[in-house]
Amino acid sequence: MDSVQTREGTMEHTREKRSKDWFKDLEIYQIYPKSFMDSNGDGIGDLPGIISKLDYLEKLGIDAIWLSPIYVSPCYDNGYDIADYDRIDPVFGTIEDLERLRDEAHGRGICLIMDLVVNHTSSFHEWFRESRKSRTGQYSDYYIWKDPKDGKEPNNWASCFGGSAWEYCEERGQYYLHMFAKEQPDLNWKSEGVRKSIFAMIRRWLDFGVDGFRVDAISYLDKGDFCDSTNALNAEGYALDMDAISNRPGTHAIIKDICRILDEYDAFAVGEVNIKKLSDYRDYCSEDRKEFKMAIPFVPPIVEIGTWSPAKMKRDIVASYETMKDDGWWARFLSNHDKPRQVSLYGNDTTYRIDSAKMLAMLMQTLPGTPFIFQGEEIGMTDVHYPSIGCYNDIDTRNAYRTALLEGKSEEEALRIAAAISRDNARTPMQWKNEEGAGFTTGKPWLEINGNYRTINVESSLADDESILSFYRKLIEIRKKEPCLRRGSMEFHDTGDDCIFAFSRMGYGKEFLVLLNFSDSLRRYSLPAGNWMSVISNGKRSAQESMVLKPYEAFLLERR
Ligand code: GLC
Ligand code: CA
Repeated sequence: MDSVQTREGTMEHTREKRSKDWFKDLEIYQIYPKSFMDSNGDGIGDLPGIISKLDYLEKLGIDAIWLSPIYVSPCYDNGYDIADYDRIDPVFGTIEDLERLRDEAHGRGICLIMDLVVNHTSSFHEWFRESRKSRTGQYSDYYIWKDPKDGKEPNNWASCFGGSAWEYCEERGQYYLHMFAKEQPDLNWKSEGVRKSIFAMIRRWLDFGVDGFRVDAISYLDKGDFCDSTNALNAEGYALDMDAISNRPGTHAIIKDICRILDEYDAFAVGEVNIKKLSDYRDYCSEDRKEFKMAIPFVPPIVEIGTWSPAKMKRDIVASYETMKDDGWWARFLSNHDKPRQVSLYGNDTTYRIDSAKMLAMLMQTLPGTPFIFQGEEIGMTDVHYPSIGCYNDIDTRNAYRTALLEGKSEEEALRIAAAISRDNARTPMQWKNEEGAGFTTGKPWLEINGNYRTINVESSLADDESILSFYRKLIEIRKKEPCLRRGSMEFHDTGDDCIFAFSRMGYGKEFLVLLNFSDSLRRYSLPAGNWMSVISNGKRSAQESMVLKPYEAFLLERR
């Protein structure tokens, strides 16, 4: 009695008719369940833990929570390897807990968005356990099986997590494809059975009453013709070329089928996509194409580790705005469970942590698009620096370390490289309190808590009107009050300084000017002519006609 299947048809969900563009006004909060709140002292976050923090999220002004996967999983990739789409992993709780979360969230006007991972399953999924047994049978075509080529892998593709994308299976005498870990075999979307099974599963969750999905790694459903890649080979002799298999017409056709089901339920869908060019981005979220409401680019134009700069970020914001301003919509985020902490990457997580975290918050809350907040961002949580690779849990981090060693790097250098990109930076437990376990757990946390929880935590942030958290609350309140900030048009101003962002939001009878200093130095700026009133700023002063902006200073001004 603990699966969604047994509940089909028995749940009443109160989803009142939504206006056409309802998703544009949402304030979405991403929860990484393992690290959010542990209710039973086993060191792992869980559903009752999330329920206990709904009041906190409501007060923050959140309209929707997106849960990273909570389904049964052996956790090679922390839940993104699903072994049973219909059951909640007992570590997180029961289906009754999820019902309670759904109802308590809905009672507060908060939507429940689940992760939908259908590029691959876990190798522990029943479909795969059957599929690997023989070339005939109900599930034999559920995965991508190929004969060896000259006694080796069918082609030279590398997996995203390093090594070959193919794994040999003795039982079938064939290789199966896994674009991620070998424990994550890719589904064969050419199989009628896969389509039927997945579509039915989606319906069961919608019938259960979830409000929509964040659709994982969705650009690669149709893999094309399996030709060798001409990209450079990695240290193990394989080529990573996700672009070659991304965004194919076959993939878009399947997404349309998925979204048609979602539309029947008036449900939300944001796709995680791999885009090569901006028109690819628009193809996923233009209204005409009837696919996603918005898309999360896997490597978003404005989130690039190592290569980002304020100038590039500015260019990318403008370009993606121009591409979709008439048809399409933006998911706004700077961090998630796959990225470093935003204040560490784009801001300054030491001297100017508070100012820069607020400045980044202002950027996300004042751009057109739907803002996504990743847990802990609202208190300015930072990257973690573990002393050894053994402290890291993430499969991608460990693979990056291994690859660096294979390339001849020293252990120290390999650790430095792996730590900088580590997804564990975002996955350290939420810091609720200045006490042992950070108020996250009374037990031993599954991943070591960032040592700075003594000073960076929710409890102290709530008590401080000048905290990053208070700033988020105020910004969200302003955004909710001002249709201009949510739906108005945008125009960037040429400031002659890469590090000064100045853009207007216009419409609904108002004009706002956002002014941000993206650097840790003083910068001069003159306001456009007119009478400007400061709505909110991260300093304690109002804007002057001509002024020197302090490091990471940020203003939201309104034309009077
Ligand atoms: C997505 C997820 C990531 C996961 C990968 C494979 O990119 O965000 O965490 O490892 O897909 O499912
Ligand atoms: Ca727990």
